[in-house]
Amino acid sequence: MRLTVIGMGYLGATHAACMAEFGHEVLGVERNPDRLAKLKDGEVPFYEPGLPELLKRHIDSGRLHVTDSYDAAASWGEVFFIAVGTPQKRGENAADLCYVDSVIEELVPLLEHDALILGKSTVPVGTAQRLADRANELAKDVHVEVAWNPEFLREGFAIQDTIHPDRLVLGQFAGGGAEAVTREIYAPIIEEGTPFIVTDTATAELVKASANAFLATKISFINAIAEVCSAAGADVSALADAIGYDPRIGRKFLNAGIGFGGGCLPKDIRAFMARAGELGAAQALTFLREVDNVNMRRRTRMVEVAREACGGSLVGVNVAILGAAFKPESDDVRDSPALNVAGQIQLQGASVTVYDPKANPNSRAIFPTLSYAESTLEACDHADVVLVLTEWAEFRELNPYDLNSVVRQRIVIDGRLCLDKAQWQSAGWTYFT
Ligand code: UGA
Repeated sequence: MRLTVIGMGYLGATHAACMAEFGHEVLGVERNPDRLAKLKDGEVPFYEPGLPELLKRHIDSGRLHVTDSYDAAASWGEVFFIAVGTPQKRGENAADLCYVDSVIEELVPLLEHDALILGKSTVPVGTAQRLADRANELAKDVHVEVAWNPEFLREGFAIQDTIHPDRLVLGQFAGGGAEAVTREIYAPIIEEGTPFIVTDTATAELVKASANAFLATKISFINAIAEVCSAAGADVSALADAIGYDPRIGRKFLNAGIGFGGGCLPKDIRAFMARAGELGAAQALTFLREVDNVNMRRRTRMVEVAREACGGSLVGVNVAILGAAFKPESDDVRDSPALNVAGQIQLQGASVTVYDPKANPNSRAIFPTLSYAESTLEACDHADVVLVLTEWAEFRELNPYDLNSVVRQRIVIDGRLCLDKAQWQSAGWTYFT
């Protein structure tokens, strides 16, 4: 089939390349000129394992094209995926839907044939209905159907999650034809026996919001328990292992540490609260405010642990920060707990050097006043304290003896509970969490 993917960021570029892998002919629309130029050369403008190879293969095979032209998009095919961002509005909790809205405003008047618009972006409940109404107003003698097909991929596992997702969800309006088209698009996934839930658009939108809210809640739950463990001298990792064996609880997403960040969970729980408020159901989601509070407190607490570890003041202290991305296998620093902690520590008078295997350039762009190193050893040179804030494999597998002669003081703070405490202690390090 001929498919168009509008917005070639983390979500769109992955979706476009995976749809080409399924044998579809795909046109990606990207308005950012730098990103477009890279994509045209078969380069991925961000780090996602496996994606550069997949994207290049399909650009070269001619099954995947990119453009910035809505005219080209309008005449390419009949199915359009919306994969643009829905960031948090400045100064508000709600999602900013300007990019989603502008897809409808720009695309629909250009359509000269019937079309199906499948939204993938994370949107507040009611958005599909609003966009469908607007598309109806803008359509010129053509029928434009809007349906919602939320995405559940994780950065770092984006290809795997797109090609072999846990489930497919489609929200369509009564009498719509989206289900038949979607079944054809995702035939290889459905043939694997993947659950395919077809529902109304409001439910599909809420499935996505609820899934992310649940994941965020799970992380804040274990981080709240971590606070109690710290006070009681208990081990939250052992506790997570023990409760995680209960299949009703499950061990995944019970890793305590400096909490969740990124371009999804933080802004999605806030947008969910904001939307519930608009619907008169604010009370139902007040617990998410506490989920957010627990999460933010983890960052502040990490700064306090660092200060205490350095004798009560960070003024003039050399701090090495290992990790800047919001999680490993990503160069994404949007709302990154690691960078947030690095920034706070610098504001308290420390000299901070950051090293991340992939996220240094993105970090430098938003935090130019921090120093950046090209390796762990360089970051730790003369450090008074080392903080591990993103659990990249190269940090988890660090040999503390290799750092012994480099640092000024052997103090390590394990912000992701990912180090072997006994190993660091036996190498002469004072270990904090
Ligand atoms: C998240 C969801 O996991 C995806 O299912 C969803 O599709 C995506 O948002 C989205 O809405 O687009 P992602 O933001 O890529 O995916 O990252 P996660 O793997 O969920 O991690 C989010 C944050 O939680 C990271 O900062 C990570 O370090 C933190 N985390 C995760 C923990 O602190 N503890 C854990 O046990 C797990």
